[in-house]
Amino acid sequence: MEESGFHEVSVPQRDLPLFRDLRSFMSHLERMGRLVRIRQPVSVVHDMTEIHRRILRANGPALLFEAPILPDGTPSEMPVVLNLFGTKERTAWGFGVDPAGLGALGKMLAELREPRPPRNFADAMSKVPLARAAMTMRPKTVHAPPVQEIVWRGEQIDLTRLPAQICWPGEPSPLLTWPLVITRPPNDESGDEINVGVYRMQVIGRDRAIMRWLAHRGGARHHRQWKALGMEMPVAVAIGADPATILSAVLPLPETLSESPEGPFGDHTGYYNAVEHFPVMRVTAVTTRRDPVYLSTFTGRPPDEPSRIGEVLNELFVPLVRKQLPEIIDLWLPPEACSYRIAIASIDKRYPGQARRIMLALWSLLPQLTYTKFLIIVDADINVRDWTDVAWAISTRSDPSRDLVTLADTPIDYLDFASPKAGLGGKLGIDATCKISAETTREWGRVLEMDSAVVSRVDELWQRLGLTEALSQWRTP
Ligand SMILES: Cc1cc2nc3c(=O)[nH]c(=O)nc-3n(C[C@H](O)[C@H](O)[C@H](O)COP(=O)(O)O)c2cc1C
Repeated sequence: MEESGFHEVSVPQRDLPLFRDLRSFMSHLERMGRLVRIRQPVSVVHDMTEIHRRILRANGPALLFEAPILPDGTPSEMPVVLNLFGTKERTAWGFGVDPAGLGALGKMLAELREPRPPRNFADAMSKVPLARAAMTMRPKTVHAPPVQEIVWRGEQIDLTRLPAQICWPGEPSPLLTWPLVITRPPNDESGDEINVGVYRMQVIGRDRAIMRWLAHRGGARHHRQWKALGMEMPVAVAIGADPATILSAVLPLPETLSESPEGPFGDHTGYYNAVEHFPVMRVTAVTTRRDPVYLSTFTGRPPDEPSRIGEVLNELFVPLVRKQLPEIIDLWLPPEACSYRIAIASIDKRYPGQARRIMLALWSLLPQLTYTKFLIIVDADINVRDWTDVAWAISTRSDPSRDLVTLADTPIDYLDFASPKAGLGGKLGIDATCKISAETTREWGRVLEMDSAVVSRVDELWQRLGLTEALSQWRTP
C-alpha cells in the first residue's frame, strides 16, 4: 500500500547532547578532538581563507584563531572560529545526530513538512512525539540573554572592530560571511512569519553594511513588502548561534533603505561575482557577550564549507523527494557542480518514458532544482554519488540522438554567466537508463556479473592464496 514506507515515521533520537549555544558546540568539538586552537597571530586578510581551504580539503578540524589580526594590523578583541561545519560529521552533529542518523532525520522533516492525517487511533498516537518535536521548534522569548551583556549604541557602534574576513585578493572590503539575517513582514507583530537566512554583508562603514539577499530569498521578499508601504524594514542579524539554528537558516524553509553597489566578492561558484546594487543596512545597536567568539567562513570554488553543508542537506532532502516521487531511489547534487547545477537521480524503472517523466517532475515540482541545468537519470544499480558509475551508465545506456531532452529559456541562476541571458537559459536531461519495450528495438546488453558461488569459493580461498599480504606491499609502478 505504502510504497515509500513513510507511515512508520518516528522522531529520531538525538545522538549528541543538546547544544544551547555556539560555545557548547565548540566545547564538544574540542573534547572530541574536532577543534584546534591557533595561538599564533593570523591576519583576517586572505591568510585565514588559505588556511581554511587547506584544512577543509583534508577534512580537518574546526579552527579557533585566538589572535586574529584586523585589516589595519591591530589585534582583534574577539577570536574567530572557522570550518565549524567543514565535514559531514560536524554538520550532522550540528543537527544533533551522527551521520548515520541523517536518513531518519530527513524522513521526520519530510513528515513535518507534509503531514498526512492519521488513519486510526494507533496511527494518531504514533504522531504525538512528532507533534511534540514540532512544538519545541516554536521560538521563545528570553529576558536578559547573555548576548546582550555588552551593548554598543550611537558612537560606540563600529563594525570595523569585528574580525570580518577579506577572503580573496581584490575584494573591496571586509565581509560578514555567516550572518543569520532575521526579518519579518509588515503587520506580523507576533513574529509568526519570521524568516532567517544567511546573506553575506559587505561592511562599508562603522554603522553601514550592504545586505546581499538574492531576489528569490525570504529576506528580499519581506524587503519588497516593507518597501511597498514606504517603510524602513527592521532587521536583526545574529552571528554565532546554536548549531541547529545556524544550519536551519541555510535550509530554504518556510524601505526607505538606499542601495549600494556590492562586491565583487568570491562566490560559491569559484568566480568573483558581478557588482550589483543591494540594500544598505544602518546599524542602530550591536550587542555581544562579554567574551564573544566571531563565526566566519569563506565561499569559493567547491569544496567550501557551504558545499559540505550542502552534502548533508542533500541527504535530508532525499526523503522529501521520495515522498512525492516514490520511484526515485537516490538523488545527488554533486558539490563540485556548485551543489545545484547538476543533479543525478536513480530510479526504479518500470515503464518506457519514465526517465523523461521524472526529469519534468523534478524540474517543475522541486524549487531546489529550478536552477539545475543538467539532470542525469540512471537505473537503480548505479551509484549516483560515484562519477565512474555515472559515466559508465551514460556511455553504455544512452544515445545522443534519442536520449537527450533539451529545453530553452528556462529560469536560471542569474549568477550563471554562461547562460545566454541573465536569469534565462537552457536545461539538458540525459536519460541514461536501460531502454525497455517501446524505447528500443535492439537486443539490450546484459550486465556482467560473477556467479555468487564463485565469489564465496574465492572468499574462502583468499587467505590461503597469500594475496592480501602481496597487495599490502604492492606499489603501483
Ligand atoms: C556561508 C553562506 C553564505 C551565503 N550567502 C548568501 C548570500 O550572500 N546571498 C543569498 O541570497 N544567499 C546566500 N546563502 C544561501 C542562503 O542562506 C540559503 O539559500 C537560505 O536557504 C536562504 O534562506 P531563505 O530561503 O529563507 O531566504 C549563503 C549560505 C551560506 C551557508
